[in-house]
Amino acid sequence: GEDPRVRDIKTKIRVIPNFPKPGIMFQDITTLLLDPKAFKDTIDLFVERYKNRNISVVASIEARGFIFGPPIALAIGAKFVPLRKPRKLPGEVISEEYVLEYGKDCLEMHVGAVETGERALVVDDLVATGGTLSAAMNLLERAGAEVVECACVIELPDLKGRERLKGKPLFVLVESH
Ligand code: PRP
Repeated sequence: GEDPRVRDIKTKIRVIPNFPKPGIMFQDITTLLLDPKAFKDTIDLFVERYKNRNISVVASIEARGFIFGPPIALAIGAKFVPLRKPRKLPGEVISEEYVLEYGKDCLEMHVGAVETGERALVVDDLVATGGTLSAAMNLLERAGAEVVECACVIELPDLKGRERLKGKPLFVLVESH
């Protein structure tokens, strides 16, 4: 059966219809963060899964990925690498464009943050179309890292984001339809 912690986490995610635009059911994790037990359980579930997997880098995506990535990185003894929107990182970067519903966006990573052969975990709050995770994976792979897995709190399986991950394993706590 399902881990009772997961059942509780589910109840703490607030769904707000028609935000930021009509037809979108916004998955609001700020209500999960208000509950210290549910927030800690969320981090613990990832830490239990990844602590003995020789992961040397946790990378996550601004802004909401930064809530979950760093505590996981600290607990498993990995470095944390922020993946950011364009023109935020001050050093030399590599960039990866990805397609959105309307138009495109881009993620950047500092050159030198990751070394060849490192084992990476990509963490974000939510996977929708998978565009963001796939750009993140490409950045890490271009830097010579091996992406072990992607991990998200929430998946919107109807959007089939998993299919954009080139067969990379994706682990999620909660599915939302
Ligand atoms: C959301 C979410 C993921 C991404 C998932 O971020 O936090 O990063 O969308 O969508 P995808 O699977 O279709 O790529 P958003 O762009 O809203 O930015 P934010 O975290 O800064 O709010």
